[in-house]
Amino acid sequence: MAYNGFAIDEYLDAEKVTEQLDELIKKPIYSVKPKALKNYCEKYFDAKCAKSKEMISEAKQVIPGGVQHNLAFNYPFPIVITKAEGNKLYDLDGNWYYDLLQAGGPTIIGSNDPVVRDAVIDLLNTCGPSTGLFHEYEYKLAKKISDCVPSVDKFRMLGSGTEACMCALRVARLKTGKKNVLKMGGAYHGWSDQMAYGMRIPGTKGLQSPGVPSFVFKHTDEFFPNDLEDLEKKLKRNEFIGGTAAVYIEPIGPESGTRPVSKEFVKGCEFLAHKYGALFVCDEVVSGFRIGLSGAQGYFGVDPDLTIFGKIIAGGYPGAGGVGGHDDCMAYLGAGLDAGGKKVTKAMCGGTMAATPISCVAGYTVISEIEKRNACEVAGRMGDRLTKGLQELIKKYNLPFVAFNTGSVCHLDSVGTMHFKIDWNKPWTIPGVLSETSKRKAEMQHMGAAYMAEGVITLAGSRLYTSAAYTEADIDDVLRRFENVFANCGKL
Ligand SMILES: Cc1ncc(COP(=O)(O)O)c(C=O)c1O
Repeated sequence: MAYNGFAIDEYLDAEKVTEQLDELIKKPIYSVKPKALKNYCEKYFDAKCAKSKEMISEAKQVIPGGVQHNLAFNYPFPIVITKAEGNKLYDLDGNWYYDLLQAGGPTIIGSNDPVVRDAVIDLLNTCGPSTGLFHEYEYKLAKKISDCVPSVDKFRMLGSGTEACMCALRVARLKTGKKNVLKMGGAYHGWSDQMAYGMRIPGTKGLQSPGVPSFVFKHTDEFFPNDLEDLEKKLKRNEFIGGTAAVYIEPIGPESGTRPVSKEFVKGCEFLAHKYGALFVCDEVVSGFRIGLSGAQGYFGVDPDLTIFGKIIAGGYPGAGGVGGHDDCMAYLGAGLDAGGKKVTKAMCGGTMAATPISCVAGYTVISEIEKRNACEVAGRMGDRLTKGLQELIKKYNLPFVAFNTGSVCHLDSVGTMHFKIDWNKPWTIPGVLSETSKRKAEMQHMGAAYMAEGVITLAGSRLYTSAAYTEADIDDVLRRFENVFANCGKL
């Protein structure tokens, strides 16, 4: 099958990958061997990253843990990045790395792209970063998104994906007059109180959300990924307790497809949401403008009522979030004292730094460049090459790891942490599952450190985003570096 502008050539076999991951979590932990890890720590991190180490230890005096961003908490200590260009990152000590983190996903055409940067600098020279009033790029970005994504009649820009997820839920409640939200277990829809539920590991309910009181989850529940029966059961149950306002999914599977879902499941979620009068909400914070210009929804052929955007829509610049959708839903999102247009109760939302000219010009320019460079497809081809190469290496070194991808979103799962599930019918098993997953998470971090010492930066040692800034030769070089780590792995 041809890519046709999408990042995906052949969609993964979700059932087969799930079986492989089921096998992985039955096995003992395989990881970088302790002696090799010690070598990486001493010969790379201590010897070659001394300036980073010193800065982080000073930063710890004023920043909790030493860094501000969750993704920067790397073992054995965070490194300090001073320069980013294309597919490379450079640190304070003068080391360089291949960038498979991509700022957590936004930089699909590569980091610090000069075309986007120049457009932002031009804007800064004329308008500055923000005025609180309308800028033409707000229109241009909204028009661009609406032209690319058929389900988006209108678009409202917000400050982050988290804000957009919160906002869509308010719209869903106003539009449907119903109360509850159902989200896929393990999916991430930001860190707002109501949505910080069933995170990472399906079935965890509020266990991973310390600081959120349990009453907040009165109207939130999760359904098991790839299980339409479970979704329908919960939709039916909700009919007796105020109905379901929205069914949220990450269309490529929870946590960017860490637990893959089938195409039929995605379509089934749309069907069931509508059957029970709920809005079907696709969280495309990661997949939007990465799986294709029309998003994962374009690839799967679904028509969500509302879509959550983030990351790429601000091209790696701050202020990356927004909600798009059908006219009848978006009517609740008019801004200002008199929202203009149809008289409806407005959903409460805002943000001083939402929709700044910077985020809008960067988003508009990056989406235009994605179009020109066919970036979704190019990045997807690189993801396919990387995944195939990793699968061959896993075989060569006889490791239980599982590599799979959805286009440019690649997963190299060495421990299967997020493949566990919590079973509330057997509460006595829960502490064991949680302690096993935290042991495995520590090994993921060790793997991430080993990759970094070999010159490859990953997301948490298990997720790899490819970009259009990669060439086949780069991917082959990246694979050689992964091989160096695999050669040092074994049963712990
Ligand atoms: C699928 C998904 N939804 C929502 C969010 C939250 O977006 P933000 O970090 O911009 O708040 C993320 C962030 O990684 C995400 O991956």
